[in-house]
Amino acid sequence: MWKKCSLRTRFFLPLGIMFVAALLIGAVSLQLFVPEQLSDESAPAARSARVVADALNSALRTSANPQATLDAFAQALGTSEAIRFQPDGASHPPPRVEVQTPIGRVPRWFVDLLTIPEVGASFPVRIEGKQVGEIIFSPDLSADIFEKWIGFVAITFSVVALTLLTGTIAYFTSGAVLRPLQDLGEGLTRMRGGDYKQLIPPSGPPEIRRSAEEANELARTLCRLSQDNRSLLRRIVSLQDDERRDMARELHDELGPLLFGIRAKAVALLEALPHGNLQLAASAEGILQSVEALQQANRRILDRLRPLYIQDLGLEKSIETLLQYARAQAPGLKLVSHIDGRLNAIEGLLSQTVYRVIQESITNVLRHARARSVTVEASMKAAELIVEVSDDGIGLPKDSVFGRGLTGMQERARALSGTLELVREDGRTVVRCLLPVGDSALG
Ligand SMILES: Nc1ncnc2c1ncn2[C@@H]1O[C@H](COP(=O)(O)OP(=O)(O)OP(=O)(O)O)[C@@H](O)[C@H]1O
Ligand SMILES: [Mg+2]
Repeated sequence: MWKKCSLRTRFFLPLGIMFVAALLIGAVSLQLFVPEQLSDESAPAARSARVVADALNSALRTSANPQATLDAFAQALGTSEAIRFQPDGASHPPPRVEVQTPIGRVPRWFVDLLTIPEVGASFPVRIEGKQVGEIIFSPDLSADIFEKWIGFVAITFSVVALTLLTGTIAYFTSGAVLRPLQDLGEGLTRMRGGDYKQLIPPSGPPEIRRSAEEANELARTLCRLSQDNRSLLRRIVSLQDDERRDMARELHDELGPLLFGIRAKAVALLEALPHGNLQLAASAEGILQSVEALQQANRRILDRLRPLYIQDLGLEKSIETLLQYARAQAPGLKLVSHIDGRLNAIEGLLSQTVYRVIQESITNVLRHARARSVTVEASMKAAELIVEVSDDGIGLPKDSVFGRGLTGMQERARALSGTLELVREDGRTVVRCLLPVGDSALG
């Protein structure tokens, strides 16, 4: 439960508990200490009442006319509320000794809460040994209770004001902490997504600011590493291309003429053979067929090794040639293509990557998909080049992993800060490659 609480709740919950606890402690203290305090405060007055009663009784004992003395005494007391004389039989039943409280100025519940002690008292008044009345001591506690009430209200207001003040400070402090923490979290999420450009604004308390600065430093390092990584990939890819080109040249310049020579010689041998030498003729025919098969294989390997036509024909035409070749290989396959004419403007690694992605995807369709139709799309949207090859084949096997073909494509895409994915969408297998067309991506 506590784990799920937000930072603000974690601030406010203890504050609220402290507020209630302060009120409860106040109420309990009032209950515990006020009765004793009230008893102590009215004790001197009670003692005075006893002294008055004793003095009256001794005066009555020595007086010639005790009744007249008593009347004079009662008159002298007048309307004093705290100490008064109550003649026997003046009221029925005899009045209870009561404490006067300031109801009206102080709420009832507060007076009830205090549990007012029995501080009142009565002392008998006798004439010739016979009780004729009582001196009643009934103290007025209004002022004391009002004083307690004022104290209680003052403490309550102080606690409320303090709680409000602390709450407001906690609210704004947590806001000042949360905002930079949120920025930090968003920044780290951006970094996880590979965006290292937008730095985290270092704000808030020093601890969080330091974390933001550390995270920014991390972003810079990651940015550097990913740039290094990309340029390494680019180097690998272009080295690969160079190697392929060299191999293609070797095959074309060395093996090609040799094969041509063998073929020419086989033809010459066939023509020179005397008629009727069937065994030699069959052998020469066999050599001729093998050489032709080798020449075809050589051409196929050459086609795979280098996109021969990009520089001469432009990317659009090169892709069309590639597709024609695929059509020739799989006559039953319906092959539709939409190639953006603007692609002819791109060159270098970017154009080679587009070509290779389409080439490898088509090869994969022919090898794995058992598809009836394939769609090849290459378009430019804003600053992005989108290559999509989709087929209606059997789809990816469950445990499908990227082999050399797709891994190579992915590396090529990453080298240009792009992405490559192989997914199944709406019953079609889709290879989607997104390549940014920026200055860094070109050439
Ligand atoms: N269009 C597709 N339809 C069905 N499966 C596919 C398709 N494209 C790729 N695959 C699956 O993805 C796997 C990986 O493809 P990838 O091109 O990386 O390797 P490969 O074609 O098996 O071998 P190579 O390294 O020679 O290209 C394939 O083995 C295949 O199972
Ligand atoms: Mg493949």
